[in-house]
Amino acid sequence: MESTDVGGADKPGTGKRVCVVGASGKLGRYLVQHALDRGYEVVGVCREQSVTKLAEFEGRITVIPGATDDRTVIARAVNGCDAVLTVLVPWGMNHYASGTAQAVLDHARPGTRLVFSCGWHITRDGKDVYTRKFRLYAAVFGRLAKLARVVDVDDQVEACRRIFASDTSWTVVRGSDLTEGASQGLPVWSLHVGDPVLASNLTCRVDYARFIVEAVENDALVQEAPAIVGRLTPSALAHAGGPA
Ligand SMILES: NC(=O)c1ccc[n+]([C@@H]2O[C@H](COP(=O)([O-])OP(=O)(O)OC[C@H]3O[C@@H](n4cnc5c(N)ncnc54)[C@H](OP(=O)(O)O)[C@@H]3O)[C@@H](O)[C@H]2O)c1
Repeated sequence: MESTDVGGADKPGTGKRVCVVGASGKLGRYLVQHALDRGYEVVGVCREQSVTKLAEFEGRITVIPGATDDRTVIARAVNGCDAVLTVLVPWGMNHYASGTAQAVLDHARPGTRLVFSCGWHITRDGKDVYTRKFRLYAAVFGRLAKLARVVDVDDQVEACRRIFASDTSWTVVRGSDLTEGASQGLPVWSLHVGDPVLASNLTCRVDYARFIVEAVENDALVQEAPAIVGRLTPSALAHAGGPA
């Protein structure tokens, strides 16, 4: 896993505690690493059977095992946290994503920075413009996954509807298609899918995680739903002026 150590005693997260909900997944583990790199004290929530996936962080983070939609687990995990980073996944047919989001919204103390992950398919204001290919893929995947009762994309939509309606300090970071690979730096973003800067539709997962962690300290992103794309992708280079 790539380290993004910002070095020195001036780490922006020093003295603050962040909870990563869904810490054991691919995105979650990057979130944990970035959070540690920034000096945060980290509390991770993951399913009991996945605790071993966090072995690399042993002794450096507190792990609270449990389902992320378990309100008791979340209440305990977010207690005393300055920020909660939630990997929002719509597994199964029992409202896992909306249950997770609701538990975080209800139990984080007022003022806590809440950052959630989801995909471009989530729209906040209906002004996103999707390609035909994207719409077709989302419709087919969503229907097949629901038929198989594996994933309920509609529940991730409901989770985000509740977040958007809340008066908390939330940010919903809408990820493009993801890939593993070397960091390109902090992704670029736009408020609407369809903006030419996003056209490449690809972000390295490690950078997606970095964007989520850095959003904690970025007040401009409070109550916004940025859609992101890799900083060195052709569309970002053409329309955002390239890396700073
Ligand atoms: N994949 C993409 O291309 C893509 C694109 C755009 C946005 N996103 C967003 O990125 C975030 C992470 O997605 P990801 O695809 O990269 O996956 P990921 O990081 O591997 O995370 C998957 C999460 O789902 C949990 N999970 C897996 N099976 C489960 C089950 N049956 N019941 C409950 N939890 C289960 C995993 O926990 P365990 O460790 O316990 O298995 C893990 O926390 C999501 O919010 C997604 O909407 C993904």
